Amino acid sequence: MNPPKPVPSKACARANTLKKQLRRHNHLYYSLTAPEISDREYDGLYRELESLESVYPELVSTDSPTQRVGGEPLSTFNSVRHSVPMMSLDNTYDKSEISEFDARLRRRLPYQHFTYSLEPKIDGVAVSLRYEKGLFTSGSTRGDGETGDDITGNLRTIRSIPLRLNTDTPPAILELRGEVYMTKSGFAKLNQIRQEAGEEPFANPRNSAAGSLKLLDSRLVAQRPLAAVLYGTGELQGIHFDTHAELIDSLQSMDFKTPPRLWVCQSINELLSALEKLESLKSTFDFEMDGGVVKVNERGLYGRFGATAKSPRWAIAYKYEPERVQTRVLDIVVQVGRTGVLTPVAELEPVSVAGSVVSRATLHNSQEIKRKDIRIGDTVTIEKAGDIIPAIVNALAGERSGNENQFSMPKQCPVCDYPTSQREGEAAHRCENLQCAAQVKSSIRHFASRGAMDIGGLGEALIEQLVDKEILNDPSNLYSLGEKREQLIGLDRMAEKSADNLLEGIDKSRSRDYWRVLFAMGIPHVGTRAAQTLANHMDNINTLMTADRKTLTEIPEVGPIMADSIVSFFDDPSKRELVQRLRAAGLTLSTKPAPSAGILEGRTFVLTGTLDNFTRDEASEKIRSLGGKTSSSVSDKTTYVLAGASAGLKLDKARKLGVQILSEDEFVKLINQ
Ligand code: IVH
Repeated sequence: MNPPKPVPSKACARANTLKKQLRRHNHLYYSLTAPEISDREYDGLYRELESLESVYPELVSTDSPTQRVGGEPLSTFNSVRHSVPMMSLDNTYDKSEISEFDARLRRRLPYQHFTYSLEPKIDGVAVSLRYEKGLFTSGSTRGDGETGDDITGNLRTIRSIPLRLNTDTPPAILELRGEVYMTKSGFAKLNQIRQEAGEEPFANPRNSAAGSLKLLDSRLVAQRPLAAVLYGTGELQGIHFDTHAELIDSLQSMDFKTPPRLWVCQSINELLSALEKLESLKSTFDFEMDGGVVKVNERGLYGRFGATAKSPRWAIAYKYEPERVQTRVLDIVVQVGRTGVLTPVAELEPVSVAGSVVSRATLHNSQEIKRKDIRIGDTVTIEKAGDIIPAIVNALAGERSGNENQFSMPKQCPVCDYPTSQREGEAAHRCENLQCAAQVKSSIRHFASRGAMDIGGLGEALIEQLVDKEILNDPSNLYSLGEKREQLIGLDRMAEKSADNLLEGIDKSRSRDYWRVLFAMGIPHVGTRAAQTLANHMDNINTLMTADRKTLTEIPEVGPIMADSIVSFFDDPSKRELVQRLRAAGLTLSTKPAPSAGILEGRTFVLTGTLDNFTRDEASEKIRSLGGKTSSSVSDKTTYVLAGASAGLKLDKARKLGVQILSEDEFVKLINQ
């Protein structure tokens, strides 16, 4: 091995300047939402640092802004004991209990002057962060308050958590308590991607933040829109804060994101009006706020007020009731999902709630409708779960006129008329017709989605047409779409250029990782994370297809429900055929890298016309086994067009572009070289 190049002092100085600048801009952007430079300028600085670090690896320090992309997946989280327990808060929905809280404290320390602080209560996941001599060394979840999970790797990816404190006099130990949350805007986007992928959407931003922090692969966490607000302390050595307000100021100056509003109140009356003001600001925050946290501002009194078994006596959370409004159920319609599950959805008279207009709410299944006794025409109360997803809380039976209609699940699929059925032990009604257009469309949508095969240009409207015109009836047909280019161009809003872009996108997707293919197949209960775990533990699809329940449940994170789902998926002959077709299309079905360095390495073939000695699939397999690639459309990236009998338009295009054309004989000679 070559010894590392000595780092010239100029490079070292430049790297340090870049790190400092990036840290500052990071804080301005992620913690203060007040950037001073454009994303482009930021990227320029970032790339400059990255390239310096790649030439001189010694410059890569653990606190470098480039070290936030996540590392190797863990198999499990270690437990850590909190040096100071993480307590929880007493809470109330009732303002008079805030006055009682004040009276209680004043009785405890009758002649003591003190003030209160008030700040938003963030609905996220409590975490503890530890800094030793100014460097972020570890971070953990609350767990049971005494012991939590070590999630340092995941927390390092959160841009608003500084990896180094912005201070010239770092304390020996600074342990902080705060809340990791998913931004409201990020949550909405993430759920959209999950839904496109046919994955279960997260119910609210808190669940999605909690789910994200539990991921064992920090590279995935790095892609989640998470942030952290710090509001409290654990162990402290070499640092002291007199008041809560001073703590928050210092944290901000050290580069932390802190509660966006903080009131210091001299009296209970000031506190009660601040609580009103805070509630009115709810929709202006980019996190879910479920209340306000009142704390005695003078930290020196914490010990004197003491704590109960669970929570300190010097703080209390005032929780806001979620906004509820009434509207009418105009109709209940039924949607058919990717796995054939029928979901009833209430169509509502549009109404504004928690900052947006709501006109639909899912009713989940027929049992839910029965339990809540919701009828078409009913007046209902709705709220947004976690302020985002509209949900019907109840129906107002007293408001009925007698003209309301009971809903019952259809006996036939609303899309394909196939009789619906219920599986044993399941609340859901299903359409079991695998050819049902609704299922075919959503399985193709899922297959092509960003988290799966990531085929750009295959939008909703196009999938509708492709399935309705019977050009596609299964995701594997995508890989022979090149042969139907003419039909493709004939579709609505489909120009030659977009058709070719789509075909190129489909071709590109052939080289996606095995776990993506696995996820794309749409095995119920197998999301992206599970697909990665499965691919890590069973390095090819044959092993997975033949694995039994017991073998599968031995894989960490694979429970009996997922195991049963995998077994029954591959028991289905139509799914095994799908695997065969995907294999023939050249998709990656194992984690082992495909054999490369073959004689056709770096060459791309387009096949057209009929061959005498091979089917197209056989010829394609042969090409790939020798390291070459196949594509369904001719472009300047094509090395050869292999032309069989009655080759058509692709041959013309090859001639136009000057691409070398091979006859079948020439092809045979080439591969036998
Ligand atoms: S102070 C000793 N401040 O709410 C506990 N907690 O329901 C001190 N929370 O466990 C907690 N925002 O996870 C505090 N501004 C805030 C908060 C906050 C959210 C969480 C925290 C706590 C939970 C209690």
